[in-house]
Amino acid sequence: MRVLVTGGAGYIGATACNVLLDAGHDVGVLDDLSTGHRDAVDPRADFFHGSILDPEVLERSLDGADAVLHFAGKSLVGESVRQPQLYFTVNVEGSRTLLEAMARQGVTKIVFSSSAATYGQPPESPIPESAPTRPTNPYGESKLRVDHLLSSSVSPGLGAISLRYFNVAGAINTPHGWLGERHDPETHLIPNVLSASESRPLMIFGTDWPTPDGTCIRDYVHVVDLIDAHVRALEAVTLGTHEVINIGSGRGYSVRDVVTTARAALGREIPLIETDRRDGDPAVLIATVQRAQSLLGWRPQRDLATMIDDALRARR
Ligand code: UFG
Repeated sequence: MRVLVTGGAGYIGATACNVLLDAGHDVGVLDDLSTGHRDAVDPRADFFHGSILDPEVLERSLDGADAVLHFAGKSLVGESVRQPQLYFTVNVEGSRTLLEAMARQGVTKIVFSSSAATYGQPPESPIPESAPTRPTNPYGESKLRVDHLLSSSVSPGLGAISLRYFNVAGAINTPHGWLGERHDPETHLIPNVLSASESRPLMIFGTDWPTPDGTCIRDYVHVVDLIDAHVRALEAVTLGTHEVINIGSGRGYSVRDVVTTARAALGREIPLIETDRRDGDPAVLIATVQRAQSLLGWRPQRDLATMIDDALRARR
């Protein structure tokens, strides 16, 4: 099948391209390189440089496509609080423009990168897909609006699946080397733990959370497992329907658990400073993953130690 991967120069999108190409699919990449890297685009893919807000480049890149994996978007919680309009323009209007172009080109299937941030801090833990959605930041709100847009857009000519990612980590080994996270600035916990040094210690954001060790708990999923869920979702998309599916492990790890696992992988202490809570952070985010199992036949295969080991190899 020919798949257009929006955001295919980013960490997760580039991983998807690699897996799809290895499986024999034909891949186009559409990316404006605002946060992605040109050298992360697999040489076997056709590259289209441009924005999902631009109907002209959408038309060219969608030509001949059977399906879209839609990763392109802004994804930093803190930035979204400072620049909400950027998030509504790129994430929501960009997705609307993409769907309009898909309709014109007769492309009928889309798998969208939604987020656990759509839930905010729900009363239940682990979080089922039926939990109330009350995002605590514009990033989560923008992802939720796209989920609603997809629900209202499905038709006999369109089927959609939203995958709600929990915390993605790890890296993939490709014939061209390891492909991992390369954000600037880097805000994610695992890369920050691995790069911590005496001169730039890890900041632990809050030790007074209502959790057993006082630090936030998250559900980590390996990027390769995440992309396996996308490949299964591409097969599972059904015209006229929109499904929402959590992608996590169903297990939670605190910030201190991550530090302990990383210390074992690195074989040294991790310099750290305990500081104030970060704005917009919920205390605990853990997924229920039964729906991914029943609808996609998917289960995560790689544990936290593997994510940290692979992230470390990619850095080296
Ligand atoms: N943290 C630190 N120090 C750091 C970085 C993070 O203590 O240097 C803490 C955070 O406060 C949080 C946890 O580590 O408690 C995880 O933080 P990340 O920034 O790695 O990830 P988030 O949970 O904030 O967000 C990620 C994605 C979102 C997604 C969310 C869903 O970036 O897009 O997971 O669970 F919505």
